[in-house]
Amino acid sequence: MQHVRAEEVVTAASVQDYLAGQERKSLLRFLTCGSVDDGKSTLIGRLLSDTKQIFEDQLTALHNDSRKYGTTGDDMDFALLVDGLEAEREQGITIDVAYRFFATPKRKFIVADTPGHEQYTRNMATGASTADLAIVLIDARQGILRQTRRHSIIASLLGIRHIVLAVNKIDLVDFDQEIFDKIAGEYVEFAKNLGFDTIVPIPLSARYGDNVTSSSANMGWYEGPTLVEHLETVEIDQAQAPFRFPVQFVNRPNLDFRGFAGTVASGSIAAGDEIVVAKSGKSARIRRIVAQGGDLPRAVEGQAVTIVLDDEIEVSRGNVLVAPAERPHVADQFAANIVWFDEQALLPGRSYLLRTETDQASATVTDLSYRVNVNDFAHEAAKSLAMNEVGVVNISVQSPLVFDAFSNNRATGAFILIDRITNATVGAGMILHPLRRADNIHWQSLDVGKQARAAAKHQKPAVLWFTGLSGSGKSTIANLLEKKLHVAGKHTYILDGDNIRHGLNRDLGFSEADRVENIRRVAEVARLMADAGLIVLVSFISPFRAERQVARELMEEGEFIEVFVDTPFDECARRDPKGLYARAIKGEIKNFTGLDSPYEPPEKPELHLQTLGKSPEEMVDVLEGWLGERDSADQLYDGDGI
Ligand code: ADX
Repeated sequence: MQHVRAEEVVTAASVQDYLAGQERKSLLRFLTCGSVDDGKSTLIGRLLSDTKQIFEDQLTALHNDSRKYGTTGDDMDFALLVDGLEAEREQGITIDVAYRFFATPKRKFIVADTPGHEQYTRNMATGASTADLAIVLIDARQGILRQTRRHSIIASLLGIRHIVLAVNKIDLVDFDQEIFDKIAGEYVEFAKNLGFDTIVPIPLSARYGDNVTSSSANMGWYEGPTLVEHLETVEIDQAQAPFRFPVQFVNRPNLDFRGFAGTVASGSIAAGDEIVVAKSGKSARIRRIVAQGGDLPRAVEGQAVTIVLDDEIEVSRGNVLVAPAERPHVADQFAANIVWFDEQALLPGRSYLLRTETDQASATVTDLSYRVNVNDFAHEAAKSLAMNEVGVVNISVQSPLVFDAFSNNRATGAFILIDRITNATVGAGMILHPLRRADNIHWQSLDVGKQARAAAKHQKPAVLWFTGLSGSGKSTIANLLEKKLHVAGKHTYILDGDNIRHGLNRDLGFSEADRVENIRRVAEVARLMADAGLIVLVSFISPFRAERQVARELMEEGEFIEVFVDTPFDECARRDPKGLYARAIKGEIKNFTGLDSPYEPPEKPELHLQTLGKSPEEMVDVLEGWLGERDSADQLYDGDGI
């Protein structure tokens, strides 16, 4: 066999170079998935080696390394070729996605090498998001495992339509046809609802090369293709998605040039074509397509270009230039599949940062429709999604996004969710469809506004948010303060945790998910009351930073005043005004804040009240002093202050 030269391990940036550099030979992107130890790295090493892409010096290094770390005695350990980093080798697991290239005379290949360890679903999803085919590796001795199913479901959700079921280590079960048939049959049955176009089971031994590039002499009973034959010939239909060009930035080096830079996410465009700006619906024609090295007559999917229009229409980062006849959705609510990566569960009501290829917005999971059981696809009712779980959710974003259904466009139908506090990527999403209610519900404009309502009360609306442990003194202090404000003629209202939990929030308990929802609701109520012109005193434990942050962002600048009522746990337990601490310590109350449920103290509260050794009256004096200073410092405001 004759082979073309190819690079070995490269970074994502050079993927583009590689693609640009290669001619029309078709390209297959695939990934390998499965559990730890079922031989992914060995298989990839074997593919690279057998397609003669290993350079001589790497072979030498490999020989030396095999002696040091290998698990195969004197044989060469192919896993060492691809496991990369020294640290990973010593741990014995691959921990990141690496892209590797190889080619045969018929096709070029990019393989995403993704780790199989249970907690690394994130990497698998990363690798799958651009792949056409997945090799699902199975250890012939073990058969189908929970992780095989999970990875298959994720592959399906991420738009993969072709599966190779690689029944590996077939040498260790004496090349037994019965074992192979049983595994293949079971998998095909399991995967029948996953929407794969092809599932091709192949018995192989990555370690010895059986059925990888050449047919095995050990399995006369097997008549199918070798792995490489199949990879070379499997037909991937490249569905033509309409033109989508998410604008990465507006390039305006001088007054004579204004172009929109980005990468064509799908479809193609030629100079002279008409486009529409997705969010505004404004249209223009393409005057120039500028690329490195000069203007292009046409740009296709994957190309990074700068587009110049014939009209000065408003386009900013995050907007998308699209084909006029085939427009994407523009909506602020939609349903999506979610794969959750984080140790902290996904909680409906919590706010996350949602990022698409170029846009981002605050997002809340308004509804967890169901969780998918990875064993039998059952839709299970759930209040949260734990790490590695998959579910269907409704999402509401603060400002409208441009998107397509993921099934129509993998580039513009995908997003990630980011934890606002830790900045970690916590989930991947595939959009199903916009929610109709987003079309049908609009803001009603009202004639009497917040300012008018507040002015009638001669006050400036505010939300004083008291947070702290149960029994820390929040309600006592809030109550005293309200009395004083009331005497001073202010219009106030107290939202108190215990009271609201008797009515509006009577359906909620003390699980993490319920507390998130508890605070989400009370924050919305506080916002309405501030909008009514009131001074609102909120007294809830509100143990999580994320929800207090959301409450802050709901209010106007300067309106939210976080008051940390800081009383140590031991002191609260000593006071124990409701006898709850005694019961919780005996184990009679579960999820008790400070005991077996966390309290995250504020990092920068407007007011930090350390109550130890102080009376509530003294605390109220501190509060009043602070509020007085704030109002006299507030030059813009011409009312009476609080
Ligand atoms: S929050 O955590 O969701 O903000 P919230 O302020 O509404 O709590 O309610 C706290 C009050 O509920 C406490 O003051 C206490 O009286 C009562 N309570 C009952 N069970 C618990 C519990 N497990 N943890 C904390 N407070 C509890």
